[in-house]
Amino acid sequence: MIEFLKQKNLEVKKNHLFIGGCDCVELVEKYDTPLYVINKDTIVQRYHSLKNALLEHYDKIEIHYAAKANTNMSILKLLNEEGAHLDCVSTGEIYLALKAGFAPEKILYTGNNYRDDEFQFALEKGVMINLDALSQIKRLVNVLDAVNMEKPLISFRVNPEFGGGFHDHCITAGPDIKFGILDSEIIEAYKKAQQYGFTKFGIHTHIGSGILDISTFKVAAQKYLDIISKIKKNLDIDFEFIDFGGGLGIPYRPSEKPLDLNEYSTSILDLFKKKIEELNLNGLIFSIEPGRYLVAESTIILSQVNTIKETRTKNWIGIDAGFNVLVRPTMYGSYHEVVVANRVGVKGKQLKYEIAGPICESGDVIAKDRTLPKIEENDLIAILDAGAYGFSMSSSYNSKLLPAEIMVSNGKSQIVRERQVYEDLTHHQHFYQDL
Ligand code: LLP
Repeated sequence: MIEFLKQKNLEVKKNHLFIGGCDCVELVEKYDTPLYVINKDTIVQRYHSLKNALLEHYDKIEIHYAAKANTNMSILKLLNEEGAHLDCVSTGEIYLALKAGFAPEKILYTGNNYRDDEFQFALEKGVMINLDALSQIKRLVNVLDAVNMEKPLISFRVNPEFGGGFHDHCITAGPDIKFGILDSEIIEAYKKAQQYGFTKFGIHTHIGSGILDISTFKVAAQKYLDIISKIKKNLDIDFEFIDFGGGLGIPYRPSEKPLDLNEYSTSILDLFKKKIEELNLNGLIFSIEPGRYLVAESTIILSQVNTIKETRTKNWIGIDAGFNVLVRPTMYGSYHEVVVANRVGVKGKQLKYEIAGPICESGDVIAKDRTLPKIEENDLIAILDAGAYGFSMSSSYNSKLLPAEIMVSNGKSQIVRERQVYEDLTHHQHFYQDL
């Protein structure tokens, strides 16, 4: 377990959990719970180790952080400062990214089922657009004409009909999946774009999320490259970039091994480089779009135990973070490691526990069947690996207030998102009048 904590840059001192040099018990005294705690240094480390692993094999690498994993403005600002590019899936994400300092040309907008006003927003801001369906080309051209703009670089999301992922909801390629353009239509897509007068092209795919098995990426890469060859041979397109999407998994369980970055980079880039040479696509940019890999392990949620309950079959712990704060266990059955942050490694009696949140639904269980030291009210539970799809998927269901987020580094902590207050619940609501 200590080894697992170490991988996540977590330390234990005098039985207290420490993150970014800060004692979790003191953080909670200062900021209350439920609390998201983001370790700035872990994000920087993950970004650079991934980038350096890729650069060992190819020199035109871009890492597009998938903002959906976590759109905290401080994380966006940090990754921008480190040199990352960005994958945005909505105009809201583009808005936040620009506010956080990203140059528009570093953003690729991969929307799904775009509205015309979303095309317009992206075009006016100067971000690149990645189309997801054949029918969208004509609509994009209409918007371009309406705002009197030149044809920008355009790319298409390819569905190589092979995907992977830790849960059915997170497999994003395959014959029955809503995303991307299938092999059978892809030539037509680029041809149409050429006919409309587009001259600069990229290509994109994303096969799914939470993948730890490198062979899944290899099979997808091979299929993707066959499609790229076909386009190049038929239409003689010189791509500006090939984007291979995200999906890099992280170990949520102590029994899981971290992704071997060297193996990932070697096997994927060997395939791409061969094809780049064969097709004479020299000088193109190879990009990937990791979300989870960069931010998941940076963050823990701290939550206070407020209830202990024994039923005939189970020992329950009630905490103040439920699926309003972290929906992954309820939504996907995801496992998140938990640690008793005020008593790590304390010897003594161990019991099996179910850890439930405060939401009025039986599915509000954050962790099941966990062996922990005998828990008491006011113990502090740390939920690990909550940096990706944690806060970004949180909600105010049951009219719960959204938690605060703090960032830590070198023993210092700062609030980066205020805890909601009751007034936020009525914000933007109006009583009807004379209806
Ligand atoms: N690129 C595109 C186009 C995507 O749709 C996604 C994720 C990514 C990149 C980043 O994938 P990552 O590297 O983070 O695996 N809510 C789920 C994950 C959904 C991912 C959706 N798309 C979860 O809680 O695990």
